Amino acid sequence: MNKPRVYVTRAIPGSGLKILAKRCELTIHNKEELPTKEDIIKNIADKDGLLCMLTDRIDSDILSSGSKLKVISSFSVGVDHISVPEATQRGIYVTYTPGILTEATADLSFALLMATARRVAEADRYIRSGKWKISWSPSMLLGVGVYGKVLGVIGLGRIGTAVAERGLGLKMKVLYYSKNRSLEKEESMGLQYMPIEELVRISDFISIHVPLNKETYHLVNGQLLSLMKKNAIIINTSRGQIIDEEALVEVLKEGRIAGAGLDVFQVEPLEKDNELLKLNNVILTPHLGSATYETRRIMSEVSAQNLISVLEGVAPHNLYNPEVMKIRSLLTVKMI
Ligand code: GLV
Repeated sequence: MNKPRVYVTRAIPGSGLKILAKRCELTIHNKEELPTKEDIIKNIADKDGLLCMLTDRIDSDILSSGSKLKVISSFSVGVDHISVPEATQRGIYVTYTPGILTEATADLSFALLMATARRVAEADRYIRSGKWKISWSPSMLLGVGVYGKVLGVIGLGRIGTAVAERGLGLKMKVLYYSKNRSLEKEESMGLQYMPIEELVRISDFISIHVPLNKETYHLVNGQLLSLMKKNAIIINTSRGQIIDEEALVEVLKEGRIAGAGLDVFQVEPLEKDNELLKLNNVILTPHLGSATYETRRIMSEVSAQNLISVLEGVAPHNLYNPEVMKIRSLLTVKMI
């Protein structure tokens, strides 16, 4: 029997490619630069499966060119780069990697929070640029304390909850705003629910953990940013489009908030003339939420396994669009 054909849009670390190679005929975009839309269209024309990254925009043109496509496995937890409703309509299973990158992303959120609060990147630049002339000074590079402060978490999914846990470990008062209120977590973790405006007004640190969709695009807009305290700091490791970046630059420039720690941006990579690059009170990382050896290794295995499961008619562990099963039933094993 012919092996199923699969297109992989980047050479992923870990054992994912080996797992796939045993069961599928693989075509890998094994280049430093991203595949173009034309590359993907050309390559998926005869493929049964696609393993893609969050950098690949899987839109209507691409979906319509993959007439044999049964599964799209994304090497990510976010699926905002895929037109999921259209994939579903076409009977294409969409899988992702939830749960796996929760702790790594929460760690990075906190790394940014601490680093912004204590001006770590600025201090590093200070030394490297030869400005450190006096061994210790009472007023050199003062930052703000974290311990015991108020942390406002926007979005209490897996990652938001993991960030809340870290805040609780630092004896922070943790507030949250989420589409769905969790009385269970309020009770068990001692979190306090608040409407978003109220949360923004009170928090010393705000950390964003909502997925990107029509409702969350520019959720944090100029009006909301204007409610933040002057000494407050905002952290974003979710998607750049959740914050109105122009409005953020304005409040940062004018010193209306203390700083921002950002891992995600409106346009990635950041363009050379992006105003954020000129600001000292901002720490920038290049979309590294899940970037640990351990996490990427597991993402690799899981994304490969998700894809193979669908091609072999077994329920994948991480199906994003279970409603697809009503449209095209490929699975012989029932979802549990
Ligand atoms: C990272 O941003 C992801 O969605 O996996």
